[in-house]
Amino acid sequence: MKEINIALLGFGTVGKGAYDILSMNKELIEKRINRSINVEKVFVRSMERAKELGVPEALATTDINDILDNVFIDIVVEAMGGTDYPADIMEKALLSGKSVVTPNKAALAANFARLKDAAAKGNASLRFEASVGGGIPALTAIQEALAGNQFTEVMGIVNGTTNYILTKMTEEGLPYEEVLKDAQDKGFAEADPTADVEGIDAANKLSILIALCFDEYISPEDIPREGITGVTAADIEAATVAGQKIKLIAKAAKKDGKMECSVKPTLLPVSHPLAGVSNEFNAIYVTGNAVGELMFYGRGAGALPTGSAVVGDIIAIAKTL
Ligand code: HSE
Repeated sequence: MKEINIALLGFGTVGKGAYDILSMNKELIEKRINRSINVEKVFVRSMERAKELGVPEALATTDINDILDNVFIDIVVEAMGGTDYPADIMEKALLSGKSVVTPNKAALAANFARLKDAAAKGNASLRFEASVGGGIPALTAIQEALAGNQFTEVMGIVNGTTNYILTKMTEEGLPYEEVLKDAQDKGFAEADPTADVEGIDAANKLSILIALCFDEYISPEDIPREGITGVTAADIEAATVAGQKIKLIAKAAKKDGKMECSVKPTLLPVSHPLAGVSNEFNAIYVTGNAVGELMFYGRGAGALPTGSAVVGDIIAIAKTL
């Protein structure tokens, strides 16, 4: 059985999630693809950090060149977070012919053309299913099963933190600040929630969706964006009385050849399929000129759901090696 060697960069929520799935479902995966997948190295900032995170000592390295210069590593999984450094590392790996899998929407959205170009030059694969919608396999479907469509619109709830906050504000009639604090206490929201609540994370994800659906790159910085910090309990109450829900919607549509896109709190009639997407769940709703309207729904964050998408990408690449 051919052995595929992978390196994990980062062992946080997603890196560890992918590692756990590869071990939990090892036999099943190997049987399915007739290849064994071996985690060869795990890159961490320091050995102390590696210990804290539970990285097996024999795999841990703090030297990125242990991975980039290692000719036996076939696939690099970049799950460190950040933007510039991970993009540089992914570019180097791709140029040297190593395939890359990443959930890192910020690094990808800011460097989309550069990374695609590096993959083409290095004759390597770049896959990023986990970067939008966590465990929801929408990106693969858009690029494969739906590739025969011309898309006219893509819209979605692509941020779990803000969807959780808006859901609790709606269901419990609580003000934004109180729900945010509760979400942070429960570990749903980051200690610094800026990227989520200001719509920055959703804009990164929309930039990726636009690139895939419309073959056009729009920098996240150029996507008009409004977060949820200005949504009040009174706004929610007024929406409820009118039979509507407020959702943070990322949307792009092409009309008469012109792209319109935004991330903003949006009123949806309760009958709209996206209005029923609650708590930390995500959904992506696309309209194609052949398939019509289609919605993908599932868990947009978390170790195992996001790890599931990462492992799916690893398997897709492993099958081609
Ligand atoms: N902070 C993100 C969210 C994590 O809340 O959806 C998944 O990308």
